[in-house]
Amino acid sequence: MFDDLRGFIEHINQEGEVVTVTEALSVKYEIAAAIKGISEKDGRVALFNNVKDYPGTIVGNLLGSKRRLAMAMGVDETALSETYSSRRKNLIKPSVIEGGPIKENIISKDLDILKTLPVLTHHEKDMGPYFTSGVIISKDPETGARSMGIHRILVRAPRGLGIFVNSPPLSNFLENAEKKGVPLEIAVVLGQDPITFFSSVVWAPEGIDKFSIAGALARRPVSLVKCESVDLEVPAHAEFVLEGRILPGERLTEGPFGESTGYYLTYNNPVAEIQVITHRNQPVYNALMPFAGEDEVLLDFSWGLENKHVFLESISGLKDLRLRYIGLMAVAQVKKRDEKDGQRIIRALMDCGMPNKVIIAVDEDVDIQSDRDIWWAIATRFQPDRDTIIKSNMPGLSIDPSTMLRETVSSGVKTLITETSKIGIDATKPLSDVDKFEKIRVPPDVAERVEKILAGMGLK
Ligand SMILES: Cc1cc2nc3c(=O)[nH]c(=O)nc-3n(C[C@H](O)[C@H](O)[C@H](O)COP(=O)(O)O)c2cc1C
Repeated sequence: MFDDLRGFIEHINQEGEVVTVTEALSVKYEIAAAIKGISEKDGRVALFNNVKDYPGTIVGNLLGSKRRLAMAMGVDETALSETYSSRRKNLIKPSVIEGGPIKENIISKDLDILKTLPVLTHHEKDMGPYFTSGVIISKDPETGARSMGIHRILVRAPRGLGIFVNSPPLSNFLENAEKKGVPLEIAVVLGQDPITFFSSVVWAPEGIDKFSIAGALARRPVSLVKCESVDLEVPAHAEFVLEGRILPGERLTEGPFGESTGYYLTYNNPVAEIQVITHRNQPVYNALMPFAGEDEVLLDFSWGLENKHVFLESISGLKDLRLRYIGLMAVAQVKKRDEKDGQRIIRALMDCGMPNKVIIAVDEDVDIQSDRDIWWAIATRFQPDRDTIIKSNMPGLSIDPSTMLRETVSSGVKTLITETSKIGIDATKPLSDVDKFEKIRVPPDVAERVEKILAGMGLK
Protein backbone atom coordinates (compact mmCIF):
# COMPACT_ATOMS: atom_id res chain seq x y z
CA MET A 1 0.00 0.00 0.00
CA PHE A 2 1.15 3.60 -0.52
CA ASP A 3 2.50 5.68 2.37
CA ASP A 4 2.07 8.95 0.57
CA LEU A 5 0.79 10.79 -2.48
CA ARG A 6 4.16 10.82 -4.23
CA GLY A 7 4.58 7.03 -3.88
CA PHE A 8 1.18 6.54 -5.55
CA ILE A 9 2.01 8.97 -8.37
CA GLU A 10 5.26 7.10 -9.04
CA HIS A 11 3.37 3.80 -9.22
CA ILE A 12 0.61 4.99 -11.55
CA ASN A 13 3.16 6.76 -13.73
CA GLN A 14 4.82 3.40 -14.34
CA GLU A 15 1.39 2.03 -15.25
CA GLY A 16 0.99 4.71 -17.96
CA GLU A 17 -1.73 6.58 -16.07
CA VAL A 18 0.00 10.00 -15.97
CA VAL A 19 0.31 12.81 -18.55
CA THR A 20 3.06 15.32 -17.70
CA VAL A 21 2.43 18.89 -18.80
CA THR A 22 5.73 20.74 -19.28
CA GLU A 23 4.26 23.96 -20.72
CA ALA A 24 4.36 26.86 -18.20
CA LEU A 25 0.81 27.30 -16.89
CA SER A 26 -0.70 29.63 -14.31
CA VAL A 27 -2.62 28.65 -11.16
CA LYS A 28 -5.26 31.13 -12.28
CA TYR A 29 -7.64 29.24 -14.60
CA GLU A 30 -4.94 27.63 -16.81
CA ILE A 31 -4.12 24.56 -14.71
CA ALA A 32 -7.80 24.06 -13.94
CA ALA A 33 -8.60 24.16 -17.68
CA ALA A 34 -5.82 21.65 -18.39
CA ILE A 35 -7.02 19.23 -15.67
CA LYS A 36 -10.54 19.41 -17.09
CA GLY A 37 -9.27 18.92 -20.65
CA ILE A 38 -7.09 15.91 -19.79
CA SER A 39 -9.82 14.39 -17.63
CA GLU A 40 -12.32 14.67 -20.51
CA LYS A 41 -9.95 13.65 -23.31
CA ASP A 42 -8.37 10.52 -21.89
CA GLY A 43 -9.11 10.42 -18.16
CA ARG A 44 -5.47 10.22 -17.06
CA VAL A 45 -3.78 12.00 -14.18
CA ALA A 46 -2.39 15.45 -15.02
CA LEU A 47 1.04 16.31 -13.59
CA PHE A 48 2.30 19.89 -13.87
CA ASN A 49 6.02 20.43 -13.32
CA ASN A 50 6.28 23.95 -14.77
CA VAL A 51 3.86 26.03 -12.74
CA LYS A 52 4.17 29.80 -13.30
CA ASP A 53 5.56 31.57 -10.18
CA TYR A 54 5.68 28.33 -8.16
CA PRO A 55 8.64 25.96 -7.86
CA GLY A 56 6.74 22.75 -6.98
CA THR A 57 4.54 20.18 -8.67
CA ILE A 58 0.76 20.05 -9.00
CA VAL A 59 -1.19 16.88 -9.66
CA GLY A 60 -4.83 16.74 -10.81
CA ASN A 61 -7.51 14.12 -11.58
CA LEU A 62 -5.69 11.65 -9.33
CA LEU A 63 -8.67 9.43 -8.46
CA GLY A 64 -10.49 10.35 -11.66
CA SER A 65 -11.38 6.77 -12.54
CA LYS A 66 -12.68 3.67 -10.79
CA ARG A 67 -9.55 1.92 -12.08
CA ARG A 68 -7.23 4.24 -10.16
CA LEU A 69 -9.32 4.02 -7.03
CA ALA A 70 -8.90 0.25 -7.29
CA MET A 71 -5.15 0.68 -7.92
CA ALA A 72 -4.94 2.68 -4.69
CA MET A 73 -6.26 -0.41 -2.91
CA GLY A 74 -4.02 -2.71 -4.93
CA VAL A 75 -6.87 -4.61 -6.64
CA ASP A 76 -8.50 -4.91 -10.04
CA GLU A 77 -11.49 -2.60 -10.56
CA THR A 78 -13.86 -5.55 -10.85
CA ALA A 79 -12.94 -6.48 -7.25
CA LEU A 80 -13.23 -2.95 -5.83
CA SER A 81 -16.65 -3.20 -4.24
CA GLU A 82 -16.09 -6.63 -2.68
CA THR A 83 -12.62 -5.66 -1.44
CA TYR A 84 -13.98 -2.50 0.13
CA SER A 85 -16.75 -4.37 1.97
CA SER A 86 -14.52 -7.16 3.27
CA ARG A 87 -11.61 -4.95 4.39
CA ARG A 88 -13.95 -2.33 5.85
CA LYS A 89 -15.12 -4.79 8.53
CA ASN A 90 -11.75 -4.78 10.34
CA LEU A 91 -11.20 -1.20 11.46
CA ILE A 92 -7.56 -0.40 12.33
CA LYS A 93 -6.90 2.55 14.61
CA PRO A 94 -4.24 5.09 13.57
CA SER A 95 -0.95 5.23 15.45
CA VAL A 96 0.60 8.49 16.67
CA ILE A 97 4.32 8.67 15.94
CA GLU A 98 7.09 11.20 16.70
CA GLY A 99 7.92 13.37 13.70
CA GLY A 100 7.45 12.68 10.02
CA PRO A 101 8.04 14.25 6.60
CA ILE A 102 5.22 16.78 7.15
CA LYS A 103 7.46 18.47 9.75
CA GLU A 104 10.29 19.12 7.26
CA ASN A 105 9.20 22.79 7.05
CA ILE A 106 7.35 24.63 9.82
CA ILE A 107 6.22 28.19 9.08
CA SER A 108 4.73 30.22 11.91
CA LYS A 109 5.85 33.77 11.06
CA ASP A 110 4.81 36.13 8.26
CA LEU A 111 2.31 33.61 6.92
CA ASP A 112 1.01 34.12 3.42
CA ILE A 113 -0.95 31.12 2.20
CA LEU A 114 -0.69 31.98 -1.49
CA LYS A 115 3.09 32.38 -1.28
CA THR A 116 3.45 28.84 0.10
CA LEU A 117 0.70 26.92 -1.72
CA PRO A 118 -0.29 27.04 -5.41
CA VAL A 119 -4.02 27.39 -4.77
CA LEU A 120 -5.99 27.26 -8.02
CA THR A 121 -8.66 29.60 -9.26
CA HIS A 122 -10.90 27.21 -11.17
CA HIS A 123 -13.82 28.89 -12.91
CA GLU A 124 -14.49 32.25 -14.56
CA LYS A 125 -16.69 33.76 -11.84
CA ASP A 126 -15.04 32.20 -8.76
CA MET A 127 -14.53 34.75 -5.99
CA GLY A 128 -10.84 33.84 -5.74
CA PRO A 129 -8.46 30.92 -5.22
CA TYR A 130 -10.09 27.89 -3.56
CA PHE A 131 -8.77 24.76 -1.89
CA THR A 132 -11.03 22.01 -3.25
CA SER A 133 -9.14 18.97 -1.96
CA GLY A 134 -8.40 20.27 1.53
CA VAL A 135 -9.46 17.73 4.17
CA ILE A 136 -10.50 19.47 7.38
CA ILE A 137 -9.71 17.59 10.58
CA SER A 138 -11.33 18.76 13.77
CA LYS A 139 -12.55 17.52 17.17
CA ASP A 140 -15.89 17.99 18.90
CA PRO A 141 -15.34 20.49 21.76
CA GLU A 142 -17.94 18.51 23.76
CA THR A 143 -16.85 14.89 23.27
CA GLY A 144 -13.40 15.02 21.64
CA ALA A 145 -14.66 12.85 18.72
CA ARG A 146 -12.75 13.47 15.49
CA SER A 147 -14.19 14.46 12.11
CA MET A 148 -12.64 14.72 8.68
CA GLY A 149 -14.01 15.67 5.29
CA ILE A 150 -13.40 17.82 2.22
CA HIS A 151 -14.82 21.33 2.39
CA ARG A 152 -14.48 24.05 -0.20
CA ILE A 153 -12.20 26.74 1.23
CA LEU A 154 -11.70 30.26 -0.11
CA VAL A 155 -8.34 31.94 0.52
CA ARG A 156 -9.59 35.39 1.46
CA ALA A 157 -6.47 36.94 3.07
CA PRO A 158 -2.80 36.00 3.67
CA ARG A 159 -3.90 34.02 6.75
CA GLY A 160 -7.67 34.11 6.24
CA LEU A 161 -10.06 31.42 4.93
CA GLY A 162 -13.77 31.16 4.21
CA ILE A 163 -15.16 27.63 4.68
CA PHE A 164 -18.38 26.02 3.44
CA VAL A 165 -19.49 24.10 6.53
CA ASN A 166 -22.63 22.42 5.32
CA SER A 167 -22.50 18.89 6.64
CA PRO A 168 -22.17 17.20 10.00
CA PRO A 169 -20.12 16.35 11.96
CA LEU A 170 -18.09 19.56 11.32
CA SER A 171 -21.23 21.73 11.34
CA ASN A 172 -22.22 20.20 14.73
CA PHE A 173 -18.73 20.72 16.17
CA LEU A 174 -18.81 24.36 15.10
CA GLU A 175 -22.25 24.79 16.67
CA ASN A 176 -20.92 23.31 19.93
CA ALA A 177 -17.88 25.64 19.88
CA GLU A 178 -20.08 28.64 19.12
CA LYS A 179 -22.40 27.80 22.03
CA LYS A 180 -19.33 28.05 24.31
CA GLY A 181 -18.13 31.16 22.46
CA VAL A 182 -14.76 29.55 21.66
CA PRO A 183 -12.94 29.04 18.31
CA LEU A 184 -12.97 25.59 16.72
CA GLU A 185 -9.47 24.26 16.07
CA ILE A 186 -8.90 22.83 12.59
CA ALA A 187 -6.14 21.33 10.48
CA VAL A 188 -6.49 21.49 6.69
CA VAL A 189 -4.58 18.59 5.13
CA LEU A 190 -3.54 18.58 1.47
CA GLY A 191 -1.83 15.78 -0.43
CA GLN A 192 -2.39 12.48 1.33
CA ASP A 193 -1.96 8.87 0.31
CA PRO A 194 -4.95 7.95 -1.88
CA ILE A 195 -6.67 5.64 0.60
CA THR A 196 -6.61 8.12 3.49
CA PHE A 197 -7.78 10.85 1.10
CA PHE A 198 -10.68 8.73 -0.14
CA SER A 199 -11.60 7.57 3.36
CA SER A 200 -11.88 11.17 4.51
CA VAL A 201 -14.98 11.64 2.35
CA VAL A 202 -16.65 8.31 3.01
CA TRP A 203 -20.20 8.85 4.33
CA ALA A 204 -19.56 6.80 7.42
CA PRO A 205 -21.93 6.26 10.34
CA GLU A 206 -21.51 8.90 13.03
CA GLY A 207 -18.88 8.14 15.66
CA ILE A 208 -16.48 6.19 13.40
CA ASP A 209 -13.00 7.68 13.08
CA LYS A 210 -12.31 7.77 9.35
CA PHE A 211 -8.59 7.18 9.97
CA SER A 212 -9.69 3.73 11.19
CA ILE A 213 -11.52 3.17 7.90
CA ALA A 214 -8.34 4.20 6.04
CA GLY A 215 -6.41 1.73 8.23
CA ALA A 216 -8.91 -1.02 7.40
CA LEU A 217 -8.72 -0.39 3.66
CA ALA A 218 -4.90 -0.17 3.68
CA ARG A 219 -4.64 -3.05 6.18
CA ARG A 220 -2.20 -1.13 8.36
CA PRO A 221 -2.52 1.85 10.72
CA VAL A 222 -2.27 5.37 9.34
CA SER A 223 0.72 7.15 10.95
CA LEU A 224 -0.27 10.44 12.53
CA VAL A 225 1.78 13.25 14.11
CA LYS A 226 0.66 15.93 16.54
CA CYS A 227 0.10 19.41 15.17
CA GLU A 228 2.30 22.33 16.25
CA SER A 229 -0.33 24.77 17.48
CA VAL A 230 -3.65 22.90 17.78
CA ASP A 231 -4.70 19.78 19.70
CA LEU A 232 -5.13 17.66 16.54
CA GLU A 233 -3.25 14.89 14.75
CA VAL A 234 -2.54 14.79 11.01
CA PRO A 235 -1.04 12.21 8.61
CA ALA A 236 2.76 12.17 9.03
CA HIS A 237 3.27 11.79 5.26
CA ALA A 238 0.90 14.55 4.09
CA GLU A 239 2.30 17.19 1.74
CA PHE A 240 0.84 20.33 3.40
CA VAL A 241 -1.00 21.09 6.65
CA LEU A 242 -2.56 24.42 7.61
CA GLU A 243 -3.29 24.76 11.34
CA GLY A 244 -5.88 27.28 12.45
CA ARG A 245 -9.19 28.11 14.09
CA ILE A 246 -12.72 28.82 12.88
CA LEU A 247 -13.78 32.03 14.59
CA PRO A 248 -17.00 31.77 16.63
CA GLY A 249 -20.02 33.66 15.32
CA GLU A 250 -18.27 35.18 12.29
CA ARG A 251 -19.82 34.84 8.84
CA LEU A 252 -18.82 36.47 5.56
CA THR A 253 -19.96 36.14 1.96
CA GLU A 254 -18.10 33.24 0.36
CA GLY A 255 -18.63 32.77 -3.37
CA PRO A 256 -19.53 32.67 -6.14
CA PHE A 257 -17.79 29.32 -6.45
CA GLY A 258 -18.28 26.85 -9.31
CA GLU A 259 -19.54 23.75 -7.47
CA SER A 260 -19.59 20.01 -8.12
CA THR A 261 -23.11 20.33 -9.57
CA GLY A 262 -21.79 22.65 -12.29
CA TYR A 263 -23.27 25.90 -10.96
CA TYR A 264 -21.97 28.96 -9.11
CA LEU A 265 -23.13 29.08 -5.49
CA THR A 266 -22.65 31.82 -2.90
CA TYR A 267 -23.18 31.44 0.85
CA ASN A 268 -22.68 33.35 4.08
CA ASN A 269 -20.01 31.16 5.61
CA PRO A 270 -17.68 30.74 8.61
CA VAL A 271 -14.26 32.34 8.62
CA ALA A 272 -10.97 30.83 9.81
CA GLU A 273 -7.49 32.10 10.62
CA ILE A 274 -4.32 30.10 10.03
CA GLN A 275 -1.37 30.35 12.43
CA VAL A 276 1.02 27.61 11.23
CA ILE A 277 1.76 25.92 7.90
CA THR A 278 3.86 22.75 7.74
CA HIS A 279 4.96 21.09 4.51
CA ARG A 280 7.33 18.53 3.05
CA ASN A 281 10.37 19.39 0.98
CA GLN A 282 9.43 19.78 -2.72
CA PRO A 283 5.76 19.39 -1.84
CA VAL A 284 3.23 18.04 -4.34
CA TYR A 285 -0.05 19.96 -4.42
CA ASN A 286 -3.12 17.82 -5.04
CA ALA A 287 -5.66 19.81 -7.10
CA LEU A 288 -9.28 18.71 -7.46
CA MET A 289 -11.34 20.13 -10.30
CA PRO A 290 -15.01 20.59 -9.40
CA PHE A 291 -17.55 19.23 -11.91
CA ALA A 292 -15.00 16.92 -13.53
CA GLY A 293 -13.96 13.24 -13.40
CA GLU A 294 -12.36 12.97 -9.96
CA ASP A 295 -15.09 14.98 -8.29
CA GLU A 296 -17.70 12.49 -9.53
CA VAL A 297 -15.62 9.44 -8.57
CA LEU A 298 -15.14 10.78 -5.04
CA LEU A 299 -18.77 11.74 -4.53
CA ASP A 300 -20.37 8.65 -6.12
CA PHE A 301 -17.99 6.03 -4.73
CA SER A 302 -17.69 7.56 -1.25
CA TRP A 303 -21.45 7.00 -0.96
CA GLY A 304 -21.70 3.89 -3.05
CA LEU A 305 -18.88 1.78 -1.62
CA GLU A 306 -19.68 2.64 1.97
CA ASN A 307 -23.43 2.13 1.72
CA LYS A 308 -24.08 -0.21 -1.19
CA HIS A 309 -23.61 -3.42 0.78
CA VAL A 310 -26.00 -2.13 3.47
CA PHE A 311 -28.72 -1.63 0.85
CA LEU A 312 -27.98 -4.92 -0.91
CA GLU A 313 -28.36 -6.74 2.40
CA SER A 314 -31.42 -4.85 3.64
CA ILE A 315 -33.51 -4.43 0.45
CA SER A 316 -34.55 -7.86 -0.80
CA GLY A 317 -34.35 -8.29 -4.57
CA LEU A 318 -31.83 -5.45 -5.00
CA LYS A 319 -28.93 -7.06 -6.85
CA ASP A 320 -26.67 -4.11 -7.66
CA LEU A 321 -26.67 -0.33 -7.42
CA ARG A 322 -24.90 2.39 -9.36
CA LEU A 323 -24.83 6.10 -8.50
CA ARG A 324 -24.18 8.84 -11.05
CA TYR A 325 -23.68 12.60 -10.94
CA ILE A 326 -22.83 12.99 -7.29
CA GLY A 327 -25.43 10.44 -6.37
CA LEU A 328 -28.42 12.31 -7.77
CA MET A 329 -29.12 9.48 -10.23
CA ALA A 330 -29.31 5.91 -8.97
CA VAL A 331 -29.67 2.81 -11.12
CA ALA A 332 -30.95 -0.27 -9.30
CA GLN A 333 -30.55 -3.73 -10.76
CA VAL A 334 -33.50 -5.81 -9.62
CA LYS A 335 -33.91 -9.56 -9.32
CA LYS A 336 -37.61 -9.43 -10.14
CA ARG A 337 -39.79 -12.14 -8.60
CA ASP A 338 -42.99 -10.17 -8.07
CA GLU A 339 -44.68 -7.70 -10.43
CA LYS A 340 -44.28 -4.89 -7.86
CA ASP A 341 -40.57 -5.52 -7.07
CA GLY A 342 -39.31 -2.67 -9.26
CA GLN A 343 -41.58 -0.11 -7.59
CA ARG A 344 -40.96 -1.52 -4.10
CA ILE A 345 -37.21 -1.17 -4.50
CA ILE A 346 -37.54 2.33 -5.97
CA ARG A 347 -39.58 3.41 -2.91
CA ALA A 348 -37.06 1.88 -0.52
CA LEU A 349 -34.22 3.75 -2.23
CA MET A 350 -36.20 7.00 -2.18
CA ASP A 351 -36.48 6.74 1.61
CA CYS A 352 -32.96 5.54 2.42
CA GLY A 353 -31.39 8.95 3.10
CA MET A 354 -29.39 9.14 -0.15
CA PRO A 355 -29.49 12.43 -2.06
CA ASN A 356 -30.69 10.54 -5.16
CA LYS A 357 -33.40 12.37 -7.10
CA VAL A 358 -33.90 10.02 -10.07
CA ILE A 359 -34.07 6.28 -9.43
CA ILE A 360 -34.19 3.85 -12.33
CA ALA A 361 -34.98 0.17 -11.78
CA VAL A 362 -33.79 -2.30 -14.42
CA ASP A 363 -33.64 -6.09 -14.80
CA GLU A 364 -30.75 -8.50 -14.37
CA ASP A 365 -30.12 -8.61 -18.15
CA VAL A 366 -29.26 -4.87 -18.16
CA ASP A 367 -25.62 -3.89 -17.62
CA ILE A 368 -25.94 -1.03 -15.12
CA GLN A 369 -22.42 0.18 -15.94
CA SER A 370 -23.53 0.78 -19.54
CA ASP A 371 -25.48 3.99 -20.22
CA ARG A 372 -26.55 2.52 -23.57
CA ASP A 373 -28.15 -0.49 -21.83
CA ILE A 374 -29.94 1.74 -19.29
CA TRP A 375 -31.38 4.03 -21.99
CA TRP A 376 -32.41 0.93 -23.96
CA ALA A 377 -34.32 -0.45 -20.96
CA ILE A 378 -36.10 2.87 -20.41
CA ALA A 379 -36.92 3.22 -24.09
CA THR A 380 -38.35 -0.28 -24.45
CA ARG A 381 -39.63 -1.50 -21.06
CA PHE A 382 -40.97 1.64 -19.42
CA GLN A 383 -44.45 3.12 -19.88
CA PRO A 384 -44.56 6.60 -18.27
CA ASP A 385 -48.18 6.54 -17.07
CA ARG A 386 -47.82 3.06 -15.58
CA ASP A 387 -44.25 2.93 -14.31
CA THR A 388 -43.50 6.36 -12.81
CA ILE A 389 -43.41 7.17 -9.09
CA ILE A 390 -43.12 10.75 -7.85
CA LYS A 391 -42.58 11.81 -4.23
CA SER A 392 -42.47 15.40 -2.96
CA ASN A 393 -40.97 17.16 0.08
CA MET A 394 -37.92 14.89 0.40
CA PRO A 395 -34.52 16.01 1.79
CA GLY A 396 -32.46 17.47 -1.06
CA LEU A 397 -28.83 18.26 -1.77
CA SER A 398 -28.11 21.92 -1.04
CA ILE A 399 -25.73 22.33 -3.99
CA ASP A 400 -28.45 21.17 -6.41
CA PRO A 401 -29.80 24.56 -7.57
CA SER A 402 -33.22 23.14 -8.47
CA THR A 403 -34.05 22.34 -4.83
CA MET A 404 -36.39 24.47 -2.71
CA LEU A 405 -35.71 25.97 0.73
CA ARG A 406 -38.46 25.54 3.33
CA GLU A 407 -38.47 27.28 6.69
CA THR A 408 -39.41 25.27 9.78
CA VAL A 409 -39.82 26.63 13.30
CA SER A 410 -39.20 24.47 16.35
CA SER A 411 -39.19 25.95 19.91
CA GLY A 412 -38.99 29.40 18.32
CA VAL A 413 -35.81 28.50 16.33
CA LYS A 414 -36.07 28.91 12.54
CA THR A 415 -34.30 26.36 10.34
CA LEU A 416 -34.06 26.22 6.56
CA ILE A 417 -34.50 22.76 5.05
CA THR A 418 -33.42 21.86 1.51
CA GLU A 419 -36.21 20.00 -0.23
CA THR A 420 -36.53 18.12 -3.48
CA SER A 421 -39.04 15.88 -5.19
CA LYS A 422 -37.97 12.46 -6.46
CA ILE A 423 -38.89 10.41 -9.50
CA GLY A 424 -38.73 6.66 -9.87
CA ILE A 425 -38.67 5.04 -13.31
CA ASP A 426 -39.51 1.35 -13.28
CA ALA A 427 -37.88 0.04 -16.46
CA THR A 428 -38.17 -3.62 -15.50
CA LYS A 429 -40.08 -5.91 -17.83
CA PRO A 430 -43.54 -7.13 -16.77
CA LEU A 431 -43.35 -10.71 -15.44
CA SER A 432 -46.68 -11.44 -17.12
CA ASP A 433 -45.13 -10.86 -20.53
CA VAL A 434 -41.42 -11.77 -20.24
CA ASP A 435 -41.20 -13.63 -23.56
CA LYS A 436 -41.94 -10.42 -25.44
CA PHE A 437 -38.90 -8.83 -23.77
CA GLU A 438 -36.27 -11.48 -24.49
CA LYS A 439 -33.02 -9.67 -25.28
CA ILE A 440 -31.64 -10.76 -28.65
CA ARG A 441 -28.15 -12.27 -28.78
CA VAL A 442 -25.65 -14.10 -30.96
CA PRO A 443 -25.34 -17.76 -29.79
CA PRO A 444 -22.98 -17.59 -26.74
CA ASP A 445 -20.51 -20.25 -28.00
CA VAL A 446 -20.13 -18.33 -31.27
CA ALA A 447 -19.77 -15.02 -29.44
CA GLU A 448 -17.03 -16.49 -27.25
CA ARG A 449 -15.10 -17.95 -30.21
CA VAL A 450 -15.32 -14.71 -32.22
CA GLU A 451 -14.30 -12.70 -29.15
CA LYS A 452 -11.05 -14.71 -29.04
CA ILE A 453 -10.43 -14.14 -32.76
CA LEU A 454 -10.97 -10.40 -32.33
CA ALA A 455 -8.72 -10.32 -29.26
CA GLY A 456 -6.02 -12.00 -31.37
CA MET A 457 -6.38 -9.09 -33.81
CA GLY A 458 -5.75 -6.67 -30.93
CA LEU A 459 -9.45 -5.71 -30.65
CA LYS A 460 -10.36 -5.87 -26.98
C1 LIG B 1 -15.47 16.62 -3.57
C2 LIG B 1 -16.22 16.87 -2.27
C3 LIG B 1 -16.47 18.18 -1.86
C4 LIG B 1 -17.15 18.43 -0.68
N1 LIG B 1 -17.37 19.72 -0.30
C5 LIG B 1 -18.01 19.98 0.85
C6 LIG B 1 -18.20 21.33 1.29
O1 LIG B 1 -17.76 22.28 0.65
N2 LIG B 1 -18.87 21.52 2.46
C7 LIG B 1 -19.35 20.48 3.21
O2 LIG B 1 -19.93 20.72 4.26
N3 LIG B 1 -19.18 19.19 2.83
C8 LIG B 1 -18.51 18.92 1.67
N4 LIG B 1 -18.32 17.62 1.27
C9 LIG B 1 -18.80 16.49 2.14
C10 LIG B 1 -17.82 16.20 3.27
O3 LIG B 1 -16.50 16.26 2.84
C11 LIG B 1 -17.95 14.78 3.83
O4 LIG B 1 -17.54 13.88 2.87
C12 LIG B 1 -19.33 14.42 4.18
O5 LIG B 1 -19.74 15.30 5.15
C13 LIG B 1 -19.42 12.98 4.72
O6 LIG B 1 -18.71 12.90 5.86
P1 LIG B 1 -19.35 12.39 7.24
O7 LIG B 1 -19.74 10.97 7.02
O8 LIG B 1 -18.23 12.55 8.22
O9 LIG B 1 -20.52 13.27 7.49
C14 LIG B 1 -17.63 17.35 0.11
C15 LIG B 1 -17.37 16.03 -0.31
C16 LIG B 1 -16.68 15.79 -1.48
C17 LIG B 1 -16.40 14.37 -1.88
